[in-house]
Parts: sequence; structure tokens; C-alpha cells
Amino acid sequence: MSANVLQTTTPFDFIGGPDKEKLVAEFKGKPLNALRTPALVVDRAVFKKNCELMHENAKQWGDVFRAHVKSHKTAEGTRMQLVSSVDKTDAIVVSTLMEAYGVVRAGLVADGTVKDILYGLPVGLNKVQDLSSLWDEIAPFDAVIRLLVDHPEQVKFLEAFEQTRAQPRQWSVFIKVDCGSKRAGLQANTPVFQELLQAVFSSPAVSVHGFYTHGSSSYASTSVSEASSYLTIELEAVNTAAGVALEFLKSHPELTGPSKPFVIAAGSTPSAHVATAEARAQIKAHLYGILEIHAGNYPLLDLQQVNTSLVDHRRVAQRVLTTVVSYYPGRGKDGTDEALCDAGAIAMSKDSGRKPGFGEVLGKPWSLGRISQEHGVLTQTGAAEREEDKVKVGDIVEIVGQHACLILAAYPWYYVVDSDTDSQGEVVEDVWVPWKGW
Ligand SMILES: Cc1ncc(COP(=O)(O)O)c(C=O)c1O
Repeated sequence: MSANVLQTTTPFDFIGGPDKEKLVAEFKGKPLNALRTPALVVDRAVFKKNCELMHENAKQWGDVFRAHVKSHKTAEGTRMQLVSSVDKTDAIVVSTLMEAYGVVRAGLVADGTVKDILYGLPVGLNKVQDLSSLWDEIAPFDAVIRLLVDHPEQVKFLEAFEQTRAQPRQWSVFIKVDCGSKRAGLQANTPVFQELLQAVFSSPAVSVHGFYTHGSSSYASTSVSEASSYLTIELEAVNTAAGVALEFLKSHPELTGPSKPFVIAAGSTPSAHVATAEARAQIKAHLYGILEIHAGNYPLLDLQQVNTSLVDHRRVAQRVLTTVVSYYPGRGKDGTDEALCDAGAIAMSKDSGRKPGFGEVLGKPWSLGRISQEHGVLTQTGAAEREEDKVKVGDIVEIVGQHACLILAAYPWYYVVDSDTDSQGEVVEDVWVPWKGW
């Protein structure tokens, strides 16, 4: 079956979800132990601080900061990512159309907070109609949709699409570059990259904004120097791609080059954590464009990020509350105890990390050792002799899981606390409702 490319698949008006106002009326002021579990809690004060710290880095590193909104998928979180006491930006990446619709529906484009929306997967042909309608919707606010391309067919399709319009337009595209993770994109030294350059620079339907890579390999970092090496690899990949493109244009004078410098866009949360003025000062290569850095997970953070050693536990802004529902003395390894909780694979995701298990219980020597759909098995990671180290049936414990993005995606809403208020993060202050679906 091939995609029916000319049909709008998700009408813009379909976006919905639980009613925030009703949720706030129900939950605001409630202590956390009054919530049904599993419950996702976000500490707004920590989230905000993480956004400020990232703005500091981004300002030192380059010209543009682009915030990915996929980790939380909320209007409230997006605003904090874009405007902080340190700096502001109006550029975002989305991983789904629903995120883009959500941003627009929340009024973030109309009030000028967002002006630049990058759809963060190489564009699927059956999304062009929807993206085009969205572009029409935001153009009056001087806002733009940008696309990622990494195959000549995508360019051909955009051309064919524009030819059906009375007034064909030019899509602003980044060429997606693979910096080694082989998730998406092309490497600059490949014949197919040359084919793509030929396609984009000879097409009336696209204009090349720059070169974009996402450095997912940087998640393996365990130190500042390792993360810095990943940042260098990411930068080299996009800078080389931009250099190759400029050479290509020199040898093809019949083709139209960019009217502005290319944007050389790199990043991921670990590499953005080390994108500082010192890192910028160490760049040896000649730059073939202006620097953009992007990141998404950084406001929330998780065990994977703590394990990079670039952030500590105090910077993790999210956790899952789960209830201990049963207890099994001596059932575990070497006769240790195990307990059953109500946070299983859906509540915590099946993401793994450097540390074994699916999450760590905060403040107690226990981890989420095994999971099935709705069952989580808590296993001991050390002696639990002191009273405060034990878990008992009926206790609510807090777990920080491996990867916040997948964990949050499972929850219909998040309970927001604020450790900077008098309640010290123990009472619900707000509820955020994420944008669901694709
Ligand atoms: C295209 C793109 N850009 C940026 C990011 C942000 O990366 P991170 O969540 O590591 O900050 C992602 C994450 O998957 C991505 O897919």
C-alpha cells in the first residue's frame, strides 16, 4: 500500500484532550499522596532552572537556539524553553504534527513566542498537505514551517505538490546529516548526498536553510570530555556538509545558492550541555555558516542524563509516583526482598540505560528491576535495614526512570509542583495536558 499523499489525514481541529481547567479545579492544592498512581510529577522550578542554564550555554555557543518540545509536548513547557530570565528564542522542533498544531492552538504563534517550527523527521509525503495547511495558518504571523530532507524523492514530491498550487511557494529545508548514529540523514561524503544537493539546488520548490544533525550517540558520554568529543563530531558533520554544498555550488554556477549563510545545526541534550564559550573557542575548523544548537530533553532530565555525569539528580525535574501493592520477602537475588508496584512498562517505558533496571527509587536502596505492562517489580540495590530504607505495602515511592521523553508520552496529564514555593514541591500547583498522537 502506498501513501495517499494528497489527503489531509489529521484535520487541524481534531486536537483535544483532557480539559486543563477541570483538572486544575480538581487537583490544585492536593498533596502528592492523594493522587492515584502511577502519576507523573514535574517540578516547575527545576524545569525553569534547566531552561535558564541551557539558554546560558546556547548564548555562548552560537547564533540560534532551537528547543525541541517533544519531551513534554505542552504549551507551558514550550514557553519556558523559549523565554527565560537569561535569553529567548522563537525556534522550535516538533516530532509530530500534533505538537505543531498544539503550539499553534495554544496561541504561541499568534503572540509571537514561536516563529520558526521545524518538523523534525525527514518529511513523509503524506504529511505535506497538513504541513502546508499549517504553514498557511501561521504565515500571517510571519512564522515559518521548515522541513528536513534527506532523499531526492522528498524534493521531487514537494515540487509536484507546489505545482498544484496557483502560486507555488518555496519550502525552507534543512538537509538532514547523519553524524554517525545512522538514525536519519546522509553523510556528506556519499554519492547520494551529491544527488540530494543536485535535487535541492535545482528545485524551485525548496530553499536550503542549512544542515542539521541530531547527536543521539552523545547519550553514551560519561564525562565532559566525552560529550565535548561528540559535540565536535556533530559540528564536523554539519560543517563538512555545508562546505561540500558550497563546493558543489561553485562547480555548478547554473544553480542557485543560498541568499544567506547556511545554518549549521547540531545538538542533543548531552552535547548541548557542553556547548559553552570554551567549547566554541576550541573550534579549529573554518565554519561554513552560522551556528545553531538544539536540544529537547534538558528541561526534564532522567537517569540516562544523570549517567552522562553532566547533570546531577537535583536537576531532574520529573518523577513517577507509584504505590507499593505487594511484598515478597526473600524472593529476590541472594534472598533479598522484592516488592510489587503499579508502575510497569507503560508507566516507565522499556528504555534502558547504563545502570540496570528501569528506574531508581528516590532516597531508598531500591530500583525498578523488572516490568511488565502494568506491573513493576522493585528490587533491592543495597541493604534496607534502616526503617527509612524499607518499602511497605501502601507506601508511595518516587521513581526516576531511564528516559523522560518516552515516560511522559504515556501520561494523559502531568501534576506540576514547584519546589520554590512554600509547599516545597509537595502539593499540586498546576496540571499540564500534553498533545497526543502523530
Ligand atoms: C531531530 C531532533 N532534534 C533534536 C532532538 C533533541 O535531542 P535531545 O532530546 O537529546 O535533546 C531530537 C531528539 O530526538 C531530534 O530527533
